Amino acid sequence: VVHVGLLGCGVVGSAVARAIERGTTDQRGPNGTSPPPRFEVTQVAVRDPAKRRDCSIPRHRFVTDPVKVAGDPGIDVVVEVMGGVEPAFDAITVALGSGKPVVTANKELLGTWGSELAEHSARGGVPLLYEAAVAGTVPIVRLLSDHLASDRIERIEGVLNGTSNFVLEQMELGLDADEALQRARDLGYAEADASRDLDGTDAADKLAILARIAFGEPVSTDDVHTLGIRSLSAPDLRDAVERGTRWRLLATAGRGGCLRVEPVPLPADHPLAALRGPESGVLVTAERAGTLLLRGAGAGGDPTAVSVMADLAVVLRCS
Ligand SMILES: NC(=O)c1ccc[n+]([C@@H]2O[C@H](COP(=O)([O-])OP(=O)(O)OC[C@H]3O[C@@H](n4cnc5c(N)ncnc54)[C@H](OP(=O)(O)O)[C@@H]3O)[C@@H](O)[C@H]2O)c1
Repeated sequence: VVHVGLLGCGVVGSAVARAIERGTTDQRGPNGTSPPPRFEVTQVAVRDPAKRRDCSIPRHRFVTDPVKVAGDPGIDVVVEVMGGVEPAFDAITVALGSGKPVVTANKELLGTWGSELAEHSARGGVPLLYEAAVAGTVPIVRLLSDHLASDRIERIEGVLNGTSNFVLEQMELGLDADEALQRARDLGYAEADASRDLDGTDAADKLAILARIAFGEPVSTDDVHTLGIRSLSAPDLRDAVERGTRWRLLATAGRGGCLRVEPVPLPADHPLAALRGPESGVLVTAERAGTLLLRGAGAGGDPTAVSVMADLAVVLRCS
């Protein structure tokens, strides 16, 4: 059994807990016997241990100190799904320092401190995996870091923020900006504070993570020229549709060029203009592989947990 310390049990964390529970009950051995579980969530760090959770981890495993969980000798691997820079940075540093692989979905932390954490991971030879931090269930990190490892990546172009994509689409359909955002909140696509989505910062975090992998440069969110979607009005968007274009919050990075997140009017038949609602999509152009397109659910607990579980499978293979 691999003992998991789960840091955070909100939208993504509870979906990870459910996926781990399913992983142990879905597999049946001969005569209905269950094989031993591969992962067990041994401790969960949250702010409020008394809150009801959408998973069946026993209450006594909930604690409030993520750094202590990360350093606990009874924990084999740490899954960080709290979000924010602190205490996530400390917890991950402590885990890596004590030889524990870390799986995280935290794009804000990786956008800012990704180079330092990657260096820490490489120095100690301890895996730091983060497929879930960019584009939810879409395996873009694996595509860049593994599949295209022998190729020279030239360009990345993506719609990396599902909330803003949904809001733009709703505005094209006639809602004003506030109504569109409210609909995104009602459907669970946007949080109460959606400023990182609308200002482009969330997409910039993700672009910095992808550019670092693709081009090997120690870039951070601050290096991304970022402009959000707040200046676009519903009439602008509808006019664009009539002219055969669609405004999308586009994130672009070219080898040796600058990193940008900004609204761009794309031709209606552009693959990234065809994304629906809160989907994310990325076009990657490499010297020999040519251009590849990945698209899918860019957010949501269960789709994002699929990427966390994929990283846990890597940890299992390496351990
Ligand atoms: N939601 C998505 O669709 C999605 C997709 C891709 C990546 N992500 C990333 O995944 C991470 C988690 O997102 P989420 O949507 O699951 O967030 P969330 O629903 O707000 O959950 C955050 C969890 O972390 C706990 N937490 C926060 N600060 C803490 C602290 N200082 N000490 C202990 N526990 C703390 C919270 O505890 P309480 O429950 O007690 O408040 C909560 O359980 C973020 O980095 C986010 O960017 C999210």
